[in-house]
Amino acid sequence: MADLTLTAKNPARIAADALVVGTCLTSDGVAVVADQLPAPLVEQIETLAPRLGVTGARQEIRTLPAGPDVAADVLVLTGLGEREPDGTFDREVLRESAGAAVRSLAGSASVVVALPAVDEAELGAVVEGALYGAYAYTTYRDAKAAAKQAPVGTLQVATTFARSAAAKAAVERAEILAAAVHGTRDLVNTAPNDLYPASFADAAKTAVKELGAKGVKVTVLDDKQLAAGGYGGLTGVGQGSARGPRLVKVAYTPAKATSKVALVGKGITFDTGGISIKPAAGMDAMKSDMAGAAAVLHTVVAAARLGLPVAVTGYLCLAENMPGGNAQRPGDVVAIRGGKTVEILNTDAEGRLVMADGLVSAVEDGHDVVLDIATLTGAQMVALGRRVSGVMGSDDVRDQVKAAADTVGEQFWPMPLPDELAEGLKSKVADIANVGERWGGMLAAGIFLRSFVGDTPWAHLDIAGPAFNEKGAYGYTPAGGTGTGVRTMLGFLESRAGV
Ligand code: BES
Ligand code: ZN
Ligand code: ZN
Repeated sequence: MADLTLTAKNPARIAADALVVGTCLTSDGVAVVADQLPAPLVEQIETLAPRLGVTGARQEIRTLPAGPDVAADVLVLTGLGEREPDGTFDREVLRESAGAAVRSLAGSASVVVALPAVDEAELGAVVEGALYGAYAYTTYRDAKAAAKQAPVGTLQVATTFARSAAAKAAVERAEILAAAVHGTRDLVNTAPNDLYPASFADAAKTAVKELGAKGVKVTVLDDKQLAAGGYGGLTGVGQGSARGPRLVKVAYTPAKATSKVALVGKGITFDTGGISIKPAAGMDAMKSDMAGAAAVLHTVVAAARLGLPVAVTGYLCLAENMPGGNAQRPGDVVAIRGGKTVEILNTDAEGRLVMADGLVSAVEDGHDVVLDIATLTGAQMVALGRRVSGVMGSDDVRDQVKAAADTVGEQFWPMPLPDELAEGLKSKVADIANVGERWGGMLAAGIFLRSFVGDTPWAHLDIAGPAFNEKGAYGYTPAGGTGTGVRTMLGFLESRAGV
């Protein structure tokens, strides 16, 4: 991750590859908004900006040669749009504008960021955004290409709070969040020949060790243990692959926990659809079908690094959905852990099967609340598009997740679980079928999952679209794995911890 420091210095006097300065829209045109920047320089840029067509709109990035009054090589103007009625900027706008600027500077060694922050929380948002933007996945590139894409190495953020303890804490929190988001993106971006259930389980152990997540224990159930333990969802989905399924538990147990939370993540390391095989076009994106499990892993690690007084156990439901000679068939009936039987009508609705085992396992272990997160349905994208995730479940938990998402700046939208959709999930031969009627497919999947959580307060997060950005980068979001869900789940845990 980029090396980040706060500075009270005049940002224009710092020698660096680039100086990032905020611009915004006002009734008089474009204004410069940048902490610690001297007034004459602000005026100079404000006079120049309109002539260069700079408006200050959100998402606007303009790179200019720096004038004699700026020690950096280039000046980057990043748009913040309009101020909020109270004169400040929305924290997500701060993240987005910092991140977009830093992302545009990939390949630069050192960058100074001067954006407006009226308090330490806003400063934290600027730092977070800058770090989210300082990301590249270059594992499979040659050295030359990797260097060109390399994220900014050194970031200096100009602020009036450089010496405050709260600012230091905000930077630390932002660094832990960014490591979790980056770690999630890395796993999602890893090629599916390299990331499969067993290697994912190893990656979980490595992440816990390398990120110094104290008090976190990783336990792995392999394919034989899963079959013996009656985990029929994971076993059935995994049996078409030469690389067997795993259930990984990642448990963080602080000494004085105020609450006990389970996070269950879908970890299909590749989803071909199985015998109900998917069309060839775009199937490569199904390497991202493990994004829920990746987000869960890194949320638990981050919770431990933050030392939250909440016990959190992650359940990573890992399998590869392949159409091998031993693959499950449409028509098969499997028993989920605990005995409930499911008729498989479509082997491509595999996520809910592995999640059912994970949910039952979480409920068995006893938790105050269970969240599950999954790239579960194409219907999520039909309903909410590529960038907005769905959340459904017990009314209060669903609303808490939505509130957490709003606080951290992720887009989640509450969806209902209409009882009439349960009708479509009725099976002629088993307790339940794995597909229902087509309309409202995201909700039907939620209803399927609900039947495995009993009375435990629960919410289901469908991140099918937002987990993987198939289009171009925007804001602090790169192409490929996005890390969606980590911040919302952490925000949820923080609110339970009373942070
Ligand atoms: N992994 C997919 C859902 C998905 C689709 C995630 C697009 C990300 C982008 C899931 O396993 C799936 O295939 N679901 C089916 C369910 C259907 C057969 C009921 C779907 O959504 O089409
Ligand atoms: Zn599928
Ligand atoms: Zn899937």
